[in-house]
Amino acid sequence: MTLFKFLWYTPCELSIKGKSPQDYAAVVLAAGMGARMNSSTPKSLHRVCGIEMLLHVIDAIQDIGIGRIAVVVPQDSHPFRSALGDSVLYATQAEPLGTGHALLQARSVLDDARNILVLYGDTPLILPATLDRLALRHSSTGAHATVVTSHSAEPQGMGRVVRDGGGEITAIIEERDADADTLAICEVNSGFYCFRAPWVWQNLERLTPAPNGELLLTDLIRAATSSGLKVSSITSDDHEESMGVNNRIQLAKADAVMRRRILEHWMLNGVTMPDTSSVYIDRTVALGKDTTILPNTHILGQTTVGAACTIGPNAIIENSTIGDECEVISSVIRDSTLDSSVDVGPFSHIRDGSHIESGVHIGTSAEVKNSRLGRGTKMGHFSYMGDATLGSDVNIGAGAITCNFDGVSKHETVIGKDAFIGSDTMLVAPVAIGEGAATGAGAVVTKDVPAGSTVVGVPARNRVVQSEEEDRDT
Ligand code: UD1
Ligand code: CA
Repeated sequence: MTLFKFLWYTPCELSIKGKSPQDYAAVVLAAGMGARMNSSTPKSLHRVCGIEMLLHVIDAIQDIGIGRIAVVVPQDSHPFRSALGDSVLYATQAEPLGTGHALLQARSVLDDARNILVLYGDTPLILPATLDRLALRHSSTGAHATVVTSHSAEPQGMGRVVRDGGGEITAIIEERDADADTLAICEVNSGFYCFRAPWVWQNLERLTPAPNGELLLTDLIRAATSSGLKVSSITSDDHEESMGVNNRIQLAKADAVMRRRILEHWMLNGVTMPDTSSVYIDRTVALGKDTTILPNTHILGQTTVGAACTIGPNAIIENSTIGDECEVISSVIRDSTLDSSVDVGPFSHIRDGSHIESGVHIGTSAEVKNSRLGRGTKMGHFSYMGDATLGSDVNIGAGAITCNFDGVSKHETVIGKDAFIGSDTMLVAPVAIGEGAATGAGAVVTKDVPAGSTVVGVPARNRVVQSEEEDRDT
């Protein structure tokens, strides 16, 4: 199976990768209330294209080779720790007293770093190449603070970047503290910074509260320039990457931008999508070359789809592995594996750890749960296999099902290779059907069926084949 590695960014010669970990460390601020989200989930743990916004930010930082990352979290850090685990360091901001106060909380965990990259947990669209340029500019100019700015036609809600006559940044002013002239400025603070340490820690301690009582990180810029220290900047041409998500309308916008990036990435890597407007692919998904994704299709979670597959229309695939040359039409596949050349649907459901081997055909309105179907097995038309293990080249007739649940417990069904399960057979588990055995239409099988034999009826018994002579006598 040929799969493309998911890469937003190809490291360039200028990359800061390779610097010692002490040289750069990163802090992501995520302890704010996120009140505008109106949610019981912390803002930066809301998802964009399948993963938490905070993880998109951390991923971008790791992409440029910075491994030491501290996340500033609120007192109740449990949801953050369960999303991020041990991959980051944690600093706690007991009360949300502003972004400046939040950054100061990370001092104790990153005290030895010489430069601190700072990002917010609500900017999932940040591109690693921009962070790389930011850190390089910071290193090459020797500035005490370096910021990323962008020009926005809709600067509302963002901090405005104030420059002097010589074009040097003198301050960043928050919208609520800005006068009319400042509000007219369209150059905004993207919220990605590099600061020199220990200067940054010392000056965070000296910040005075803004009119709303918060200690603002952005006030560090004026602190630097008023002491005659250099503030450097780069400008991002992609204003979308600076989008901070403060409410659910912005969350939907960020999701749309990320979705477009993901679809374009896969189209450039050989995947056909005739209608991108109705295709949803999570960032954690990998797709193979010459695969076609048809409309109304959702490919989610930890999913890989192989080469030359046709997925959709109307398919949902989640946390599954699909091999090459598979076809999935109007069906749902969750937590399962399909080997190569499997076709599923329309209107079927494969779920809960099922493994479908190569060449299997699963037709209309079939359900497979926690089962293994051997190579070349055919299962169409309104059938259900639950907790079953099927050998190769089994035929499952229309309407045949496993009765795997007795009301209390689940039981297993085993079907040997080349078995033929007649239409409307009920396989009352636990039960085993031997290799090459057959069941008649409508059989209710309550006992194991030996290899090569045929059972019929209710309850199913060995079929007695009358001789032609006996037939004539009767
Ligand atoms: C911030 C910037 C603004 C910039 C914009 C870019 C400040 C003062 N303003 O505004 O200049 O244009 O981002 O998106 O920095 N946080 C904490 N603790 C706090 C407060 C906030 O950890 O006490 C975290 C939040 O969880 C969030 C981030 O800091 O992830 C930014 O806070 P937010 O309130 O969203 O700032 P903005 O008003 O968007
Ligand atoms: Ca924000």
